Amino acid sequence: MSFTIFEPATARLNRSELAVPGSRAELFEKAANGNADVIFLDLEDAVAPDDKPQARKNVIEAINDLDWGNKTLSVRINGLDTHYMYRDVVDVIEQTNGRLDVIMIPKVGTPSDVYAVDMLVTQVEDAMGREKRIGFELIIETALGMANVEANATASKRNESLHFGVADYAASTKARMTTIGGPNPLYGVLTDMDGDNPRDFHWGDMWHYAISRMVVAARAAGLRPVDGPFGDFKDADGYRAQANRAAALGCEGKWAIHPSQIDLANEVYSPSEKEVTQAKRILEAMEQAQKDGQGAVSLDGRLIDIASIKQAEVMVRKAAEIANAG
Ligand code: COA
Ligand code: MG
Repeated sequence: MSFTIFEPATARLNRSELAVPGSRAELFEKAANGNADVIFLDLEDAVAPDDKPQARKNVIEAINDLDWGNKTLSVRINGLDTHYMYRDVVDVIEQTNGRLDVIMIPKVGTPSDVYAVDMLVTQVEDAMGREKRIGFELIIETALGMANVEANATASKRNESLHFGVADYAASTKARMTTIGGPNPLYGVLTDMDGDNPRDFHWGDMWHYAISRMVVAARAAGLRPVDGPFGDFKDADGYRAQANRAAALGCEGKWAIHPSQIDLANEVYSPSEKEVTQAKRILEAMEQAQKDGQGAVSLDGRLIDIASIKQAEVMVRKAAEIANAG
């Protein structure tokens, strides 16, 4: 281990994160009664400019009046380049009861963006005499935000998670696609010419680098990496595939933009019984190995060593967290 240790962020289940437009108050109760681990009430891009003040009022009322159970509750504020943002922060904290857990900051570019929100939140919390400190979820969805992703991750003690905002990221990097997440038919390779034999086109995942980069920055700083939206909410298999590949890279969850995506995310981001059983077998085998004075042994014909203990512990701990959340 390095001598440098980043304390892990406040532990929360973050398998599914449901986006709910702040302008559609009729959806709030349904969201509160659903299965999402985290709900973010949106004041930003799902809300038209004329609706911003009303959406803010709706969100304040919903935080105070609805029973959000043991869900993590978040509000996505407007960007720092808008004139809505300061009032989002001030009104939402001042006029609510302390139930809000985190604030989601969109389009974070530099650590100063995070610093500015931290300063504002701190002042409001101190003025209100609030003990509970609101955490931050940062969306990495611009070229600038990704270029500074490591510095952004460590910009505030309030930081809890980094989220990959695929649509804005595509726009910011001028990537050639207009869908929200998912694969891109332009991004692939054609196998070499081989006489007259047919050639295969292999689709690739154009978001691999961006997600991997964000995962590393998040994990290095003790934060949760979370994959963003998949717009085609009728395509459950497509969603599952996107969620699985982000989970394989280390993401801890994925956004849901429609209730039908919540259970898919919860399923993908919960270790299966089979995985947990195997992880427990690895821990038992390594315990025996250590008693026998060995660092590496074989289990079912495969090498396991001290790194395997850590991998298995991640799995077992996650299963326990999910069981505790009931
Ligand atoms: N949260 C809670 N409930 C939702 C919901 C959401 N995000 N999206 C849909 N629902 C509800 C609908 O009200 C409907 O409820 P009902 O059966 O009681 O009538 C049910 O789920 C099925 O909804 P459906 O009719 O299929 O969807 P829609 O046409 O009303 O809305 C979207 C589709 C995509 C516009 C809507 O899901 C949405 O606004 N999603 C969030 C978008 C967002 O926040 N984007 C920003 C982040 S990328
Ligand atoms: Mg966005």
